[in-house]
Amino acid sequence: MSQLTPSILSVCIAGTGSYVPERILTNAELAQRVDTSEEWILSRTGIRERRIAAAEETTSQMGTHAARRALDNAGLSADELELIIVATITPDTPTPATACYIQHNLGASRAVAFDISAACSGFLYAMKLAKRLIASGAFKNAIIIGAEKLSAVTNWEDRSTCVLFGDGAGAAVLRLAAPGEGSILATEMGTDGNLTHLLKIPGGGTACPITAANVNDQLFTLNMLGKEVFKHAVNRMKEAAEKVIERAGLTAESIACVIPHQANLRIIDAIADRLAVPNERVFVNLDKYGNTSAAAIAIALDEANRSGAFKRGDNIVLVVFGAGLTWAAAAIRW
Ligand code: UT7
Repeated sequence: MSQLTPSILSVCIAGTGSYVPERILTNAELAQRVDTSEEWILSRTGIRERRIAAAEETTSQMGTHAARRALDNAGLSADELELIIVATITPDTPTPATACYIQHNLGASRAVAFDISAACSGFLYAMKLAKRLIASGAFKNAIIIGAEKLSAVTNWEDRSTCVLFGDGAGAAVLRLAAPGEGSILATEMGTDGNLTHLLKIPGGGTACPITAANVNDQLFTLNMLGKEVFKHAVNRMKEAAEKVIERAGLTAESIACVIPHQANLRIIDAIADRLAVPNERVFVNLDKYGNTSAAAIAIALDEANRSGAFKRGDNIVLVVFGAGLTWAAAAIRW
């Protein structure tokens, strides 16, 4: 009996989906708005352009598009869906949760829906949570969604941050794996609350409520000490990836694709180097979308999946890092 238990409790990713807004904002356009250059942005970050949502387009609308595509890809109907977890730092409203709007949009009336806030790490936090909830028998399936409208919380006069971020959404459907199917092999999460000051939106919560006096002070936009964050990002993502690789019994050679958080190409290269995974097996799309926080790894997973960067039976590793500080990784047999 005990030999059967692991496969019975295995949870797989049955489908992925993503959505990005139509509007492309190029480095050249940004260079006309703030004191920067196309060359600086590309050489320091690897970003060429990013997508910007329309003024009236919400996080839940983007998340809904991505979710529909993931459900299609998984062959699951919205009314079969039991759990919706949305990772976002840019919810439609402080309450109710963005997941509730998405549940309504999908018509997934049986699903329990809630948000989690773990910044860029949110999608993999949601993956671990959903995996455990499905493996425990509490739910048969789940959709996890990373969705962000970072353009709404960007200080468009701050050249050190406005060149980095973009909007979009990605989603994955999880369910119990049938015998012989792939599964999520290992997950890792971490948090260091001593370093909250490195990356934050200072205003809008109870620490600094919105008032008429402070509304114009850019307290409601993303602030980052980039150099410090960079250092922690490389170390934490390397450690988290190594842990899941070891726990899953993998080696660098047996990994078909590493999908890292899409924040900076120099960070991605440093991690690939430290993990001894060749660059051609590391998925990168931040040149097209910039850093979309919780959506970044979700969009990358969907694009990698649909572009054939890996196939059924391959091992892949996902690794993320963000405000909190938070980090997470997952090793998956596809
Ligand atoms: O998603 C969550 C995780 N986020 C991250 O992992 C982001 C981590 N950090 C980074 O990716 C990088 O630190 C940045 C891309 C944000 C910045 O790159 P950097 O190489 O660390 O640059 P820096 O902040 O040290 O700035 C170097 C110089 C400074 O000028 P001085 O002091 O050397 O004269 C900045 O003022 O570059 C200047 N600078 C710019 N110049 C042109 C900063 N932003 C810009 C800009 N255009 N947009």
